Amino acid sequence: MLHTIKKIGVLTSGGDAPGMNAAIRSVVRTCAFHDIKCYGIYRGYEGMIDGDFVEMDARSVKGIINKGGTMLKSARSKDFRTKEGRAKAYEQLRKAGIDAFVVIGGDGSFTGAMIFNKEYNFPVMGIPGTIDNDIFGTTHTLGYDTALNTVVEVIDKIRDTASSHNRLFFIEVMGRDVGHIALNVGIGAGAEEILIPEEDLGLDRLLESLRRSKQSGKSSSIVIVAEGDKIGKSVFELKDYVEENMSEYEVRVSVLGHMQRGGAPSCFDRVLASRMGVKAVESLITGKSSYMVGMKNDVMDLTPFDQAVKGKSKINKELLRVSDIMSI
Ligand code: F6P
Repeated sequence: MLHTIKKIGVLTSGGDAPGMNAAIRSVVRTCAFHDIKCYGIYRGYEGMIDGDFVEMDARSVKGIINKGGTMLKSARSKDFRTKEGRAKAYEQLRKAGIDAFVVIGGDGSFTGAMIFNKEYNFPVMGIPGTIDNDIFGTTHTLGYDTALNTVVEVIDKIRDTASSHNRLFFIEVMGRDVGHIALNVGIGAGAEEILIPEEDLGLDRLLESLRRSKQSGKSSSIVIVAEGDKIGKSVFELKDYVEENMSEYEVRVSVLGHMQRGGAPSCFDRVLASRMGVKAVESLITGKSSYMVGMKNDVMDLTPFDQAVKGKSKINKELLRVSDIMSI
């Protein structure tokens, strides 16, 4: 492959996700495969502005494919949102002789890369790394599959105690303002109800559904609440509301929080990360720039940044129907 790119930077940006280390490993080793130098950029765009770089080779990334988190650390950078900040970053990259970079992150990270590319005509490529799976242009973002498995395991544990005490549990899961995690773990863990931002169930229908569960002989219930759900009440207010309107239920709440972002990446995420890293580097060295690597029909494809950041990943309506039928 003919290319003039000699040094590629790699960074992780935004909320961390399991599989980011596997993606770093793939970018570094694909560079090595093509005799290109690779530089790790610590702490996302903050580290780029500070010139916090480390040269990496195939051995630098040994033993990390199975590690959650990111060895390069991650951060959200306010300075990179300013022209001055991006100018400093460009200066640092130029000083180090880095002539392209791969950013592993979410839509905010891609927006920054897109603006940087426009300002400096600097080659950039994105790998979608976020547990939310809320990025247009890929069926899976890195970390999503791992988060689903982590959460399902936890809900199974909560169900043990819910059924032992005949309780109703409201379990809040991450996902920012989309309901992919909630919908899939709700089906996977056999939840009685799933509240997601994309579907406004409403409080009355929630009570109706819980009454139906009770009448059908269910002694305990699990309701999954996406953190972005718009029912208008926090999970704690939902608890109070149900206790006030359905005294037959003893209600508890569990907010899973950041444990959903940790843990060893699943095999699916490790393979996806490895594939995305190869695609990102080989796209750069064949002259492409300002794209996000994504999986479509099990093929690694490219989506222009401006589409990836503007688009929204849609909820699968068939899953909604499945969840309704399963909770009969
Ligand atoms: O985007 C990933 C995510 O975990 C979201 O699901 C969640 O809302 C957010 O990050 C939490 O952000 P922070 O790590 O800054 O608290």
